[in-house]
Amino acid sequence: MAHSAPKLDLTKSMKMYEESQVLSPGGMMGIRRPYNFIPGEYPIFLEKGYGGHIVDVDGNDYIDMLCAYGPIIMGYNEPEINEAVKAQMDKGFCFSLVQPIQNELEQKLIDIIPSAERVILVKTGSDATSVATRIARGYTERNTILRCGYHGWHDWAVEVHGGVPQCIQDLTVEFEYGDLHELEAKLKEHDGDVACIIVTPVGHPLAKPVMPPPEGYLQGVRDLADKYKVVLIFDEIRTGFRAALGGAQERYGVTPDLSTFGKAMANGYPISAVVGKAEFMNVCEKKVFISSTFFPNSLEMAAALKCIEILQRDKIIEQVWTKGEWFLKELNRVVATSKVPVTVNGIPPMPFLSFEKVDSFHKERREMFYTETIRRGLFIQPYHHWYISARHTQADLEKAIWAITQALELVNEKYPVK
Ligand SMILES: Cc1ncc(COP(=O)(O)O)c(C=O)c1O
Repeated sequence: MAHSAPKLDLTKSMKMYEESQVLSPGGMMGIRRPYNFIPGEYPIFLEKGYGGHIVDVDGNDYIDMLCAYGPIIMGYNEPEINEAVKAQMDKGFCFSLVQPIQNELEQKLIDIIPSAERVILVKTGSDATSVATRIARGYTERNTILRCGYHGWHDWAVEVHGGVPQCIQDLTVEFEYGDLHELEAKLKEHDGDVACIIVTPVGHPLAKPVMPPPEGYLQGVRDLADKYKVVLIFDEIRTGFRAALGGAQERYGVTPDLSTFGKAMANGYPISAVVGKAEFMNVCEKKVFISSTFFPNSLEMAAALKCIEILQRDKIIEQVWTKGEWFLKELNRVVATSKVPVTVNGIPPMPFLSFEKVDSFHKERREMFYTETIRRGLFIQPYHHWYISARHTQADLEKAIWAITQALELVNEKYPVK
């Protein structure tokens, strides 16, 4: 029989959190704030990472299945990537002109991503999606963006939030993942002013199931984009270098006009890319302006080139899928024998467990589950799907399944479904 595990010592994390709130509003920004986890149970400050693990400032060691929200595809602190970055550091990496490594990386992306004929290298996922939508608006000379999923923090991409003028929000219209009828209705409603459809090819709304593309869905979106003559953008920030080397477009065989890559591209170094057909991308030759002091900085280009080289050489994505398939199978087995109302979902590199609203206790069940898993050294997120990295060992994955099994047992004892 499972027993509740002792609470972790988080003394230093808590003290640093107090200090941070005087230094920065809320202590830290957005999704890293404690309310996105289980406040009082999860660490707040980390000291280091190695392989598939993280260590917090109090010395607690966790199997990390959030992978820095996606960038860590191999593992933390990869020596080969660090060495490539150091070698670039010795040459210099911040100049008034670009360096040859830019051509090398762009050629590499063109070689591996099906839709890539031209590349623009930027730094964050939000940079990339904003560049892509600006290209679409510039190309079509229309304003409305149809979007589905999280695409970043910039003005065009956020839902109702302070600091964003209503007139900007009005130009971005959300549609439901998986529903082609609704998408067509929105295309008709805004016909004549839609610049683009931007969609995450694998659906992943917050705290909801991760949805592999339903049969024919991505092709259906492609067909609608063609029918209404709008630019189709795949936001591959999460799926790039994870669903397949060339992203979900490679795995599911549907080619968008433009797509955005980031996160796992450099195993944690900040770089992202917009790639696409020359016809669209070339509006940046004259008509559309994109520029930043740091876009050409090359440390992260060196990291990306080395990361992609290792992903290809060591067949890392195949490894991650094999591990993820094992993990999903085990998760399904555990859930099938448990009476807790949860559903397993996701694709092998991006698994998740949804707590079903069968009565009024689903929040309590979720809170207890994540409390018991973090206390057992498994770092996962209640409102965001999890990730598998190549350095998760079989022992890590088995321990994760053990923690999940114990946590579900305890949840079932405390909150049985009547
Ligand atoms: C699908 C997707 N697009 C865009 C972004 C924004 O990327 P960034 O946080 O690097 O700006 C994210 C970040 O989570 C994302 O998941």
